[in-house]
Formats: sequence, structure tokens, C-alpha cells
Amino acid sequence: PIYDKYFFNESAYDYHDGGYVPLEVYDSPAVPLNIPALLKPDRETDTDVWMTVHAQPGETQILPGEKTKTWGYNQSLLGQTVVFRSGKTYHVTLKNSLPELTTFHWHGLDVPGPFIDGGCHAPIYPGQPKEITFKVDQPAATTWLHAHPCPLTGWDVWHGLAAMVYIKDAHEDSLPLPRNYGVDDIPVVLQDRRFHEDNQWDYDADYDPDGTAGPTALINGTVNPVFDVTTQKLRLRFLDGANRREWRLHLSDDLVMTQIASDGGLLPEPVKLTKLMITCAERAEVLLDFKDYKAGDQVILYSDDTPILTFNIKDFAPDNTVLPDQLAEITYPDVEPNANIHQVVLAGTDEEITINGRKFGMMRIDDRQQLGVTEYWDITNTNDCCGGMLHPYHMHGGSFQIVSRNGQAPYPNEMGYKDTVSVNPGETVRIKMRFNYAGVFMYHCHIIEHEDGGMMAQMQVWTPDDPHKKYDLMEMDTL
Ligand code: C2O
Ligand code: CU
Ligand code: CU
Repeated sequence: PIYDKYFFNESAYDYHDGGYVPLEVYDSPAVPLNIPALLKPDRETDTDVWMTVHAQPGETQILPGEKTKTWGYNQSLLGQTVVFRSGKTYHVTLKNSLPELTTFHWHGLDVPGPFIDGGCHAPIYPGQPKEITFKVDQPAATTWLHAHPCPLTGWDVWHGLAAMVYIKDAHEDSLPLPRNYGVDDIPVVLQDRRFHEDNQWDYDADYDPDGTAGPTALINGTVNPVFDVTTQKLRLRFLDGANRREWRLHLSDDLVMTQIASDGGLLPEPVKLTKLMITCAERAEVLLDFKDYKAGDQVILYSDDTPILTFNIKDFAPDNTVLPDQLAEITYPDVEPNANIHQVVLAGTDEEITINGRKFGMMRIDDRQQLGVTEYWDITNTNDCCGGMLHPYHMHGGSFQIVSRNGQAPYPNEMGYKDTVSVNPGETVRIKMRFNYAGVFMYHCHIIEHEDGGMMAQMQVWTPDDPHKKYDLMEMDTL
């Protein structure tokens, strides 16, 4: 089948919200889509890789005229793309030249918490670099890096602190997929901003406790981007890197997208769709096939009715590769009989948001789960006022599998490993989760202002030898 709907409850889309900021085309010339450079390791052996990730302030020529003051990783805005290979050990030096502390959160990476994971307990102060070491051991996937200081994640990400992080492995290498970075395998970071006087951003002016948004789409930091297509098939790696916006993606001529991967890597089977909705922090990899187009044609990517990225078709050689029906085996362990079922209730809007009736406490452990044991988590969105809103629920500490939505099967494109799932109003999504590392991990709504506003909690993954291990948690003193 070819799916032609967004699956989620239309009544909860963010455009039903009074504060909704519709996308508009910004009146500025088309420019080539920015493709961030690949981050070059400092040093490398067969088993180990050393690299430096540097959070830095800068200025970026986004629009004609004044440059925009921005922050980025190893560049002035967003970040150089990090590539990890599963099985290798990484030694990453985290450097901060910003005027304030930040953290480096590896969203979607299966690593120990709370320090390597880089959530809010792992501050890096300006001028005080730290090295973290971890082994990457998970399937090929599109993950990402973003700042996560509490409660300033929204502020940091709005300034530009977000980067693509690819994981590669031998299985993905063996499939007939485009993987020529920047040519037929391209990152597509979806964000939105409002440009104020002199082309500057102003987080405080645009702040909304239900999620900060702007009318101008920014794709990899580019306004009105154009990409030259030189191959018949193109792999787009979408990341919703926006603070709040949901993207409802579709192409001109209803060109079919074949989704091959979601947050945690390849889907068990490819899923064909003409409409794809992605909510905050989710990733989706899709293939486009331009066989019915010829040099000089244009294909346009829209979110709702606003064009956000133009593909200019050039000459290309025919590509007859055929995608296998089976892309990956998803082997999530079973839940033990009588295992605890964790409950997470997301409620409220604006300043009233809560998780399980409370707001986030930096020093409070809200839930516990044993290392290596698989348990259900039931995530409920009770927020049904005025149509309600979707809460994209995210867990640190690895990937989960979606079991059901209100007892029904998950959507066809969420059958792979996930770390973020959007929950409709009035819905309970059951997931199963196993942690592979001990530590303290956060779980939260990924509308970043909800997270900063307290729709976040944390859990301890414990081991029998030290079930109440004390971690040096940070108090909220980041202001
Ligand atoms: Cu994208 Cu708590 O993270
Ligand atoms: Cu995360
Ligand atoms: Cu939320």
C-alpha cells in the first residue's frame, strides 16, 4: 500500500493552537542547501577514534545583508556531521567557548547516564573541556547531538546547538542504499525561526511556553534552499530539530517517499507514503526515486502548504537497484511476566504542564528499572482540552519498541527502534524498554519548552550489586 495520511489525530495538530505560527515563504533569494561538513577525527586506530566537539558562538550569512548571530558545533550554526561506526570506542573532547555553560546530549545514542549521555547533569563550563569515552554498540541510525542544560535547552537549541550524528554498521553497508554524503545521502534538519531587525533571532521575544516557533523554515540553516539532484535516487535523513514545530511533509506530484528508517535505524520493511508527519526530535529516512523526471524539472518539498526545499533535477544515470522487502530484523527482548508497568502521564498546556502530576526535580529520582530487564512503559496524554496537543515523548538511555496505541497496532512507519514517540490526546502508547547501561536518565516531552517547563522526569537504572548507587546530580543552578 501507499499511505496517504499523516496517521496522527488531525484535531491535535499544532495549527489548532491559538499561538500557532504558520510557515510563510520568506522573501529572499533561493540559495544552495547547506550541507554541513563531516567532522574529522583528531586521531584514529582500528578500534578507537578521538574527536573534538566544540560549542562555539559565531555569525552566519543566512540572509542577504547582516549576518545572524548563531551558535554551533565546530562551525557557526548547527554542527559538523558526526559519524560513528558501531563497535568502535570514541574519545570525545567536549569544548565550550560560549558565554555560559552547556551540555552535549547524544540523543538516540545508547550510552551510560547521566554524564556521558550529556543531559542536564553533565555541564561543560566555558574554557574547561572534558573528555568522555564510550563504545558505540547499536544498529546504523540517524541520531543527533543537542545541548541540554536545564532549563535552557530551548535557548541553546534556538541559538543553533544541534548536529546530525550518523551511526554506521556492516548490515546497513550491505544494503543497496544511497550513502554518498552530500550527493545522494543528505541530512535535512528541519527548523523554524523568526528573523527580527538586522536578521537577528530573539528567543525571549518569540518565547512561548507551549513551544517557541517562527514563520520561516530553516533547512540545515538555509532559507529557501535548493538542492541539485544528480542521481536517480536520493536518501533524505529528516530530523525534526525544531523546538516545537511538527512537520507535515509531502512532495509535488505526490511523489512517493519510501521510508526506510526511523529514530533507531532501519525499519523491518520499507513503508511507502505520500505524507509524512514528523514531530520534535524524531528522525525519518526516506528514499525518493526521480525516474519519472528529467533534467530541468523541479520537485518541491512542502510542509503543509508552504514550500520548504526545492530539488532541481539534473542529468542522472539510471539506477535499477531494488530495495529488499526486509530491511532489518527487529529483535526486542520480551517483557518478563509480572514485570512492573511504568506509568507516565503527560498533562496540561502552557505553564500548567506536568508529568505524573509534578514538575521536573533535578535531584529527584522518579522511577527505577533494573539494568538489562525489559519492562512496559505506558505513556498517556490526558490533555484533551480544546482538541489537545501532541506530546512527543522521549527517553534517554537507548531505544524502545512501540507495542500499541490505545491497544491498537502502532503506525506502519514506527515498527522499528524508536526513542521518541508522539502521543495523541486521550491516548495511551505502550512501549517496551530495556536499558543497556546503568545510570540516571531523563524522560520528557520533546517540545523543548515543555521539557524546560518541567514536563520531564528522571529514572535510575540500577544493578543488583549497588541498587541505590548515588550519582553526583547537579542542582538547577545554571542561571
Ligand atoms: Cu533530545 Cu532529553 O533530549
Ligand atoms: Cu535524548
Ligand atoms: Cu509536550
